[in-house]
Amino acid sequence: EQAEKDGFDHYMLKEIHEQPRSLRNTMAGRIDEAKREIAMPDLGLLPEAVKEIEKIYIVACGTAYHAGMIGKHVFESLAHIPVEVDVASEFRYRNPLFSQKMLTVVVSQSGETADTLAALREAQRNGSRVLAITNVVGSSIAREADYVITTNAGPEIAVASTKAYTSQVIAFYLLGLYFAQVKQTIAANEREALLHAMTQLPDQVEKILTHADEIRAYAASIKDESQMFFIGRGLDYAVSLEGSLKLKEISYIHSEAYAAGELKHGTLALIEEGTRVVALSTQAHLHEKMVSNITEIKARGAVVLGIALEDNMELHRSVDDVCLIPATHPLLAPILSVIPLQLISYYTAVALGNDVDRPRNLAKSVTVE
Ligand code: G6P
Repeated sequence: EQAEKDGFDHYMLKEIHEQPRSLRNTMAGRIDEAKREIAMPDLGLLPEAVKEIEKIYIVACGTAYHAGMIGKHVFESLAHIPVEVDVASEFRYRNPLFSQKMLTVVVSQSGETADTLAALREAQRNGSRVLAITNVVGSSIAREADYVITTNAGPEIAVASTKAYTSQVIAFYLLGLYFAQVKQTIAANEREALLHAMTQLPDQVEKILTHADEIRAYAASIKDESQMFFIGRGLDYAVSLEGSLKLKEISYIHSEAYAAGELKHGTLALIEEGTRVVALSTQAHLHEKMVSNITEIKARGAVVLGIALEDNMELHRSVDDVCLIPATHPLLAPILSVIPLQLISYYTAVALGNDVDRPRNLAKSVTVE
């Protein structure tokens, strides 16, 4: 087992560090560098079929659901297709409305999650075509879906998902751009800029990983907290949910993620002197709003770690600590901003002496309902 961990103390840390490679693998063969466009040679979803899609359901569980929340932003902003995202265990029992012009996208690392598989079958029974984003070739979900994008992230052993998540998010960028290309909802120069920025992501993740020690120090400072909050707006809210889930599943610290604008509708009551908050602000158009939310919580005693792109030189004035990540296209920021959150969760669990790869009560693949 030690050999399989490649010298890392845990599978989770190994998998976090594998992300530059797994991201490259997800993109490999799907970007036509010469034509500077997306090529989806193995997808089977032809341009004529893409043009007919009027609505998308994204259905998944856990971390894959959080990737789906990013997918919603991607499809809506690039391909102008309205999207609903559902947790699979809710979707299958809420009698969703289907039509021939809909596409259901299921996301599952293992391809075996019972509720996600049941949602796939429910969608197909109602006449919707299903596209699966999965990491396991030959899994039940891969076999039953009409179209498959394999994430090619390699086996993920740690229960807390890391590289599978970033590869699922990349798969959404590829798919969203492909749809936008087909539907001509994106200008060529904007598409090329996004593609170029995507190819930079693996090296940028690598760069963030070289600062792991600073994050380890932050983790040591929160390990005795009984509660934590993660806040953000838009895409940053989706990433906050994932950061919060990562922290609770392996450190067992109670943690909540909030859309920053919702704080004043209840959660603000929980903020007191010394409450630790991680605030994500990678979206320039939402930055001012975030600063005002941060000011509100700081006035009530919160101690805030801000996460921002390095071209944002203002955030440090409003927070206690700042973690800067390389600048990228705003739509792509989740791939980078989630890395420090994965490391915070990992190092906190290690500092607490927890069984990082096999957290209590949890399973890697949930094949029962
Ligand atoms: C379990 C795992 C999570 C995962 C979820 C969905 O709860 O512990 O890490 O996100 O299942 O799994 P899937 O294989 O469908 O992505």
